[in-house]
Amino acid sequence: MNLKGKTAIVTGGNSGIGLAIVLELARQGANIVIDYLVHPEATEELEEQVRALGNCVIGVRADVSKVSELQSLFAQAVEAFDHVDIMVNNAGVETRTSILDTTEEQYDRVLAINLKSAFFGTQLAAQQMIKQGGGGRIINISSVHEDWPMPGNTAYCLSKGGMRMLTRTAGVELAPHGILVVGVGPGAVSTPINSVTMSDEALLKRLDASIPLGRVAKPEEIANLVAFLASDGASYLTATTVFADGGIMQSSPGL
Ligand code: BGC
Repeated sequence: MNLKGKTAIVTGGNSGIGLAIVLELARQGANIVIDYLVHPEATEELEEQVRALGNCVIGVRADVSKVSELQSLFAQAVEAFDHVDIMVNNAGVETRTSILDTTEEQYDRVLAINLKSAFFGTQLAAQQMIKQGGGGRIINISSVHEDWPMPGNTAYCLSKGGMRMLTRTAGVELAPHGILVVGVGPGAVSTPINSVTMSDEALLKRLDASIPLGRVAKPEEIANLVAFLASDGASYLTATTVFADGGIMQSSPGL
């Protein structure tokens, strides 16, 4: 697995799964564009870590829920590295609200950050990859909840369901250009998005017990999969989602 000479953009790249993806792609030799919205100091620290691995890196503050800022993210990436080979649409939020109490503002925010950003991130990445030639990889960080309801997190599930069809449809449309589009569906991962569950011992115990592997994932365990999907070894995967969920979607009490 060697990504030497490739350039990867990771949206929401300075925390959680995004941060682990940045480090793993860098370990595999890629130059990195870290997109972030808040916590510039965390981005700077991460940039240092990427440089220490011998790679080139830039941090770009861009709100990927806005097309104009995504355009500026790509412009800065191309200016710094000339090409974009790997696009990781990772930025995401959730509100933990049900269909009964989700506000219009919450709905718009979740759909814009999770789905609109991935849609236009895919569009801009594909336009750039077609222009430069040679294909590319677009990896959408979705969730088990693209397929599996999470009561009390309706807008989030809706956005991930949208990502599911984005991956499938864009994968088919872009296949003739050698651009592979793959979704990654993590289960429960120890990241800031999950902080409420992670910091409550009783809730975490319940969650662990519902996972056949008996524990939530470390962000690195998702990042390893992303690095594989970005590599030559994953040359026949497109328009589908690979789940890394410890078996949670298939779990059954056997009763
Ligand atoms: C959600 C988490 C949830 C996990 C497993 C993730 O996509 O962001 O809140 O715990 O799925 O259900």
